Amino acid sequence: MPLNLAFIGLGVMGYPMAGHLAKAGHKVCVYNRTTQKAEQWAETYGGTFGTTPAEAAKNADIVFCCVGNDDDVRSVTTGENGAISGMKPEAILIDHTTASAELATELDTACRNAGLHFIDAPVSGGQQGAENGKLTIMCGGEEAIFEKSQDIMAIYAQAVTLMGEAGAGQMTKMVNQICIAGLVQGLSEGLYFAEKAGLDQNKVIDVISKGAAGSWQMMNRHQTMIDDKYDHGFAVDWMRKDLDICLNQGRKIKAKLPVTALVDQFYGEVQAMGGGRWDTSSLLKRLKATD
Ligand SMILES: NC(=O)c1ccc[n+]([C@@H]2O[C@H](COP(=O)([O-])OP(=O)(O)OC[C@H]3O[C@@H](n4cnc5c(N)ncnc54)[C@H](OP(=O)(O)O)[C@@H]3O)[C@@H](O)[C@H]2O)c1
Repeated sequence: MPLNLAFIGLGVMGYPMAGHLAKAGHKVCVYNRTTQKAEQWAETYGGTFGTTPAEAAKNADIVFCCVGNDDDVRSVTTGENGAISGMKPEAILIDHTTASAELATELDTACRNAGLHFIDAPVSGGQQGAENGKLTIMCGGEEAIFEKSQDIMAIYAQAVTLMGEAGAGQMTKMVNQICIAGLVQGLSEGLYFAEKAGLDQNKVIDVISKGAAGSWQMMNRHQTMIDDKYDHGFAVDWMRKDLDICLNQGRKIKAKLPVTALVDQFYGEVQAMGGGRWDTSSLLKRLKATD
């Protein structure tokens, strides 16, 4: 049965994710702050678009959201003309934005008060994962609501997992970002070292990727790093936002994150180089710039 769905936020991630829902035969109404992108999306996928989040969400059984940070999510959900004000009773709000666990609790309460349901559902897998429909989704919320919505999320995911109550999805995503931070710095140092040592970087990756050093970052980023190309992927500005969330949460639960804190400073330096929108693998560019 085709469902009425709404998707708010057509960025690097949201644009293809909403596209997968439409391609699967659902009726999708989108909203994007920059309307031109919504028009282009509707033309490409044969869906519709609303001029406010509330308008896009009006008839939807499930409303998806994938914007930038906590405040961006608030503005499209609980803010003026936000989705929650337009949603029909018992509809489900699913937030794919990487945001704080506090925001998830706040939205869960706002949805309950409005007779709606909420799931925090941050994603991993990057631009490629969104485009290929192979994301990993970590969810927080009620089991019954998760069961109603997991098949729809599976349209653009290879794994959709309920981790616990509201906020547990965001907590899991924090673990994901903590793991990635040190790893990308390690990969950057490895490629940098290989170049300085006069090795063929492609040949190095070819051999070590088959051993214990292999990783998603290595497989999906080594070539663009070697080619000095960073105009794609997961923006440094978003990574700093994520690491800020991790470091704040770490302080609250008394979890020490020394490498994460250091890599966060390195990303600050990449921003100062003008790389806020560069992919997070640009840590290599920072190393080379400080030679
Ligand atoms: N890119 C990745 O590889 C990746 C991977 C995993 C998770 N994520 C997370 O997914 C989320 C989206 O990332 P992205 O890469 O798709 O970002 P993006 O390309 O920068 O897109 C952000 C989207 O949010 C909208 N937006 C931002 N602030 C808004 C506001 N105040 N009101 C309304 N709309 C607003 C933007 O609208 P406009 O078009 O008008 O600017 C755009 O549609 C972030 O939380 C990010 O951390 C990203």
